[in-house]
Amino acid sequence: MIKKAVIPAAGLGTRFLPATKATPKEMLPVVDKPAIQYVVEEAAAAGLSDVLMITGRNKRPLEDHFDRNYELESALTRKGDAERLLKVQESSELATMHYVRQGDPRGLGHAVLCAEPHVGDEPFAVLLGDDLIDPRDPLLARMIEVQGREGGSVVALMEVAPEQVHLYGCAAAERTGDPDVVRITGLVEKPDPADAPSNLAVIGRYVLDPSVFGVLNRTEPGRGGEIQLTDALQELAGDEKLGGPVHGVVFDGRRYDTGDRGDYLRAIVGLACEREDLGPGFRKWLRHFVADEMAGD
Ligand code: G1P
Repeated sequence: MIKKAVIPAAGLGTRFLPATKATPKEMLPVVDKPAIQYVVEEAAAAGLSDVLMITGRNKRPLEDHFDRNYELESALTRKGDAERLLKVQESSELATMHYVRQGDPRGLGHAVLCAEPHVGDEPFAVLLGDDLIDPRDPLLARMIEVQGREGGSVVALMEVAPEQVHLYGCAAAERTGDPDVVRITGLVEKPDPADAPSNLAVIGRYVLDPSVFGVLNRTEPGRGGEIQLTDALQELAGDEKLGGPVHGVVFDGRRYDTGDRGDYLRAIVGLACEREDLGPGFRKWLRHFVADEMAGD
């Protein structure tokens, strides 16, 4: 049974400056919830009740968000505002939260390595905060199922346009008997389009065998001078004795990169349209807005 989720959240969020000058990028709202809450909710929905966040400087608001806020709770109780009280309490009841600081940010592989003392010798999940998976398209539960059956590690993959491949870890893979599962034969971090083995991109969900820590411990800095998780997984993929195999679950649901400003806006529009409370009014406005835009073209 996989119980632990690791969420790296030490990035500087430079793509969202100035909004992220004093606020962690993970706290930027998607509709009315911080982006990171969707990720913790996803972990909890997949049965991961223990969440370790790898944070850095200026990340105190993350800890506060997943903690109780008694002052706010008692003010809402006094007002009899049960609905908002529930919203305030929700985030502190999702999972048991733990935090560790990645003093010297040396890449995603290094962030995952910071989780080693907490995770110990058991398989665990890694969820990257920039990837928002639409809650209606569950992915992590399927990855956990595949890991339970095949052992080793499992990464989430998505087909992307060839000109996008250089933004991701990219996989060489073989088919298996399951249409949504492949066996990974190679991984390259952010390849030049000419060297990309496929258009299968690693999206930010991983279920990892603890042997990854041993490999990461001796992984040299790779792309961008950083210790890359992709490089450690490439090593595991080729060696069953070391801790392989590595499988991929190919996802074709809705996923947003909230670290990208355009996709962040699409996430807000996409999720707002589906909301029972906001959706009907917002869609109506959106239809008029688009009609006006088209009339102006
Ligand atoms: C990281 C990983 C990359 C993966 C991506 C998914 O890159 O290094 O392999 O494809 O997340 O979002 P980053 O986007 O943090 O540069």
